[in-house]
Amino acid sequence: MSRSAPLLPMVTACALALVLTACGGTGDGRGSAGVGDPYFPQAGNGGYDVSHYALNLEYAPETPTPLTGTATITARAGQNLSAFDLDLKGMQVKSLTVQGRKARWTRRGQELTVRPSAALAEGETFRTTVRYSGTPGTITDPDGSQEGWLPTADGALALGEPTGSMAWFPGNDHPSDKATYDITVTVPKGLRAVSNGELRTETTTGAGRTTSTWRTTQPMATYLATVAIGHYDITRTTLSNGLPVYVAVDPHEAAASSKVLARLPEIMEWEEYNFGPYPFSSTGAIVDRRGDAGYALETQNRPFFPGAPDTATLVHELAHQWYGDSVTPKTWRDMWLNEGFATYAEWLWSEDHDGDTAQQTFDALYRSGGDADVWAFPPAEPTSAAHISDSPVYERGAMVLHKIRRTVGDARFYDILQGWAAAHRHGNADTADFTAYVERMAPGKDFSGIWKDWLYGDGKPAHP
Ligand code: TRP
Ligand code: ZN
Repeated sequence: MSRSAPLLPMVTACALALVLTACGGTGDGRGSAGVGDPYFPQAGNGGYDVSHYALNLEYAPETPTPLTGTATITARAGQNLSAFDLDLKGMQVKSLTVQGRKARWTRRGQELTVRPSAALAEGETFRTTVRYSGTPGTITDPDGSQEGWLPTADGALALGEPTGSMAWFPGNDHPSDKATYDITVTVPKGLRAVSNGELRTETTTGAGRTTSTWRTTQPMATYLATVAIGHYDITRTTLSNGLPVYVAVDPHEAAASSKVLARLPEIMEWEEYNFGPYPFSSTGAIVDRRGDAGYALETQNRPFFPGAPDTATLVHELAHQWYGDSVTPKTWRDMWLNEGFATYAEWLWSEDHDGDTAQQTFDALYRSGGDADVWAFPPAEPTSAAHISDSPVYERGAMVLHKIRRTVGDARFYDILQGWAAAHRHGNADTADFTAYVERMAPGKDFSGIWKDWLYGDGKPAHP
């Protein structure tokens, strides 16, 4: 589901992809093997747009094929297609059909190239079914962090940012192609599978297995899809506005988590007041144990925490539901639109709850010396894929927002925070969309210095 214009004109996307991958172009009806992301050129695929993933997964630990899956992908062809790619890393493909007919496929790296028995016509909606199995892998990012399929003490955990979803299901693994999901997971009896969206059914069969079906009806980027398998304490409540809350906590983390998680309703209400209507049909959290190497992730509806969260981290990951999950970056270059906003949410929370004001947080950061990490590169232009989660993206991104607030005043600033979330709700946006939006919202104000020095400029800006 793509609500915005194509990422790049086809010619440019192919010219870019040609340098790094084989790009078939449009002439022979092959969709490109990447959407031309400046940081992850092979991520995603050209030529089609997914509207829905139906994933049926079976988890059988300590067997030769711990994961068996069937993915049924509904997509619309954006051009005539004699072949197209899906992203899938590892796993064995057992069978593949397009529109119910056997299709041929080849694999090369993360590209699963599908050749339907009959070419697809531009504009056609088509269904691809992939049966696969094996031991899903863990992917190590250019920045050293790990995603994909991650074993835990009593199960497994799927985390996807930025390119981890291809470890556990085939798809168009790029934030520019959002879709709805039905995720069904069967696990050994006694374990539980938690995912995005809302739980529809949970049944235990005579065969000693439990099947849970989860449905996500608002568009979701692949990197936000999750499955958490293990033992969990489940708490189901509703917010005062009726929104369902589903919280799953590893029993070992329950005591340490309870005080902070009890504040989830209060945080959600504060965020709705400040950011506008919540974009999804349920909320919650997943807490599991991932040791020191763990990181939190804003998995849609239900952010993941690698252990008992602190309040600031809960505020941060829930803020991503507006900024990142609903308004999703067009490419990985625009990561500061996620992290700068979620970090600024922490500053605002502190200011509203008797902690440091955002100005104090800003001032403390500005005192950092010129060679500090926070000034290493401009937030809108990380130096490489290895740096998309570095301090300039988070802290200096938040400083950009604070500079805007200082320029327009509080009333207009909160209008911008809410208006930005509303304007691109369930869509994709980039930095140019954001700067244009801010300028439209504050006619007569001059932002050129902020853009030049804070957003795009190298080094520490000369003035706070
Ligand atoms: N998005 C996460 C957060 O700040 C952090 C994170 C996890 C991340 N994995 C990543 C950032 C991979 C960039 C790339 O809440
Ligand atoms: Zn974040």
